[in-house]
Amino acid sequence: MANNKLVEIKNLTKRFEKLSVLENISIDVPKGENLVVFGRSGQGKSVLLKCIIGLMATDAGKILIKGSDLAMLSIKELNCLRKDIGFLFQGAALYDSMTVRENLEFPIKKHFPEMEQKAIDEKVINTLELVSLEEAIDKMPSELSGGMKKRIGLARSIITDPELMLYDEPTTGLDPITSKEISELIINLQKKLNMTSVVVTHDLICAKIIADRAIFLHDAKIAYQGSLTELTNSTDLFLRNFFSNELVKE
Ligand SMILES: Nc1ncnc2c1ncn2[C@@H]1O[C@H](COP(=O)(O)OP(=O)(O)OP(=O)(O)O)[C@@H](O)[C@H]1O
Ligand SMILES: [Mg+2]
Repeated sequence: MANNKLVEIKNLTKRFEKLSVLENISIDVPKGENLVVFGRSGQGKSVLLKCIIGLMATDAGKILIKGSDLAMLSIKELNCLRKDIGFLFQGAALYDSMTVRENLEFPIKKHFPEMEQKAIDEKVINTLELVSLEEAIDKMPSELSGGMKKRIGLARSIITDPELMLYDEPTTGLDPITSKEISELIINLQKKLNMTSVVVTHDLICAKIIADRAIFLHDAKIAYQGSLTELTNSTDLFLRNFFSNELVKE
């Protein structure tokens, strides 16, 4: 049974001094699922992703990735597990002083130091093809548009072939059409590469394209969960208010 679950979060609690950001949260993400995480600003969405990748220690509870309890792993084992996890950070900054090629080489060299340059070159080109930006290979980030930067950020986070992708607001700051393109790219990559994803977003267009299931974080709890349609059609006042405000942006 555990084999089917890529991520298992059991009674996770995360506090910053007196501030309780996540309180007794439990979520399972089965292999192949795209889970969308909603919640207002400051409700712990980014913190949740950082806990899943082991960047933030938890105060209580357990996180298992592919059956391994993060708290029980050595730094070396954790780094090894991180090869299987891609993270598109909120803001997804590229390294400004590096070309697109160098930005993409960076995670490969870190996780696969033994890989030969020829194989690295091929991997970089193939990954740029996946995001349709082969022509940007020798450009500097400052020469790219916001949407192009997102696509390169996406390429950089999938270049090590992760099984699990964590996206923190992948479409924020993009116009609706580019946002739709990025969301479609995410879902296509997910299908092509057989990935599982957890996607934090405020963007309903993105969620509609991506979500198999959604959860809504509020007051340190999972306040609601279900299919996107269940959440957006809910008669609950809080949800109606949240989604009607989000819908205005559509
Ligand atoms: N390293 C930290 N130290 C102290 N407090 C933190 C830290 N990281 C996050 N917090 C606090 O935890 C709470 C949740 O932050 P988080 O970044 O997860 O919010 P979010 O839901 O991602 O919001 P947004 O939609 O604005 O990105 C906030 O109150 C934030 O101030
Ligand atoms: Mg955030």
